Amino acid sequence: MTQNISQFSFPNTIYFGAGAIDNLPQYVQDTGIKKPLLVTDAGMLDTDVFPKVEIILKDAGISYSVFSGVNPNPLDSDISKAVEVFKNQRCDGVIGLGGGSPLDAAKVIQVLAAHGGRVNDYDISTGGNQNIKGPLAPMIAIPTTAGTGSEVGSCSVITSVEQGRKFLVCSPLLRPAIALLDPELTVGLPADLTAGTGMDAFTHCVEALVVKDFHPMCDAIALKGIEYIAQYLEIAVKEPGNIEARGYMQMAAMMGAVAFQKDLGAAHSLSHSLSAVSHVPHGLANAICIVPVMKFNKKECLKEYAKVAACFGINTFEMSDEEAADKAIEAVADLNKRIGIPKKLSQAGVEEKDLEELTQKAFLDGCHQSNPRKCTKEDLMNLYRQVL
Ligand SMILES: [Fe+2]
Repeated sequence: MTQNISQFSFPNTIYFGAGAIDNLPQYVQDTGIKKPLLVTDAGMLDTDVFPKVEIILKDAGISYSVFSGVNPNPLDSDISKAVEVFKNQRCDGVIGLGGGSPLDAAKVIQVLAAHGGRVNDYDISTGGNQNIKGPLAPMIAIPTTAGTGSEVGSCSVITSVEQGRKFLVCSPLLRPAIALLDPELTVGLPADLTAGTGMDAFTHCVEALVVKDFHPMCDAIALKGIEYIAQYLEIAVKEPGNIEARGYMQMAAMMGAVAFQKDLGAAHSLSHSLSAVSHVPHGLANAICIVPVMKFNKKECLKEYAKVAACFGINTFEMSDEEAADKAIEAVADLNKRIGIPKKLSQAGVEEKDLEELTQKAFLDGCHQSNPRKCTKEDLMNLYRQVL
């Protein structure tokens, strides 16, 4: 046992199951919301999910307003516009519907609706989180992807239009009152997005697991998440209508976000930079980068990676931890292959000439600070090179 004092906090009320969306009116009532602002992105309007949610609200006689202007990486200006709608329409709660971006935006809308000001005022890097005080308008999060786990997270990533940078807004108060996980809402997700977002969830679990903090609850949750992903991600990619696989992937994504309360690691620094510089989707970037990062970290986390191998169903009984760790890395690369993740960043449009800028930005990113093996700038460059 450690002699350090560890602080644990575990998240919100979660409703999980096929058809859970039908109970949305009850959940709206439970949270005390009289008029929700339904926050989503333009892409969702063309799916089957959005009209379904509208019909459920209308049939229950719930008056609501819609803001569908959230950008793929939510902008601070999106939030300001949404807050205007929230106030003008006299809303008193928020429903975030979609992938990580609408959910992240919805979380910050609660903050600005309660406290006013600009999104920048709540930037955690300048201590803005101190300005977030309760109570906030209640929020219900309805994810339609299985990756970010934003529905149980206490942070949002927002892009400042003026400053051209991403920043975090974080507070336990940002956690939605209710996370509604209905696997039926994810069946329309195309195979490549299912694969990429699923490997984002995997990266959350495996990076959180090896962060050198004492947090046995997060570790256990990370391992269970990895087990679900090992078992169900390929099925979800190849059989999009398989509700069991979709459900376990939704669980795994949510569990990944619970686990990364511990923090993340180098793969997320590499992928944040890849998204900013080369516009590689976050999940795809993580999927490609996690393999070299696991190799780089191996010696520092043999025991943890041996457990990862067991999650993949590998019999590690007669193996040394190092052999088992090697098997775990092989299993991850093999899963990537089976679900159609390209091996190389060049297949995702990254070029040699981008490496310098990619490395600079990855080094500035905070995630690698909690990587189990310290990363220099050269290390990060080498990690990129291994998969270029
Ligand atoms: Fe991620």
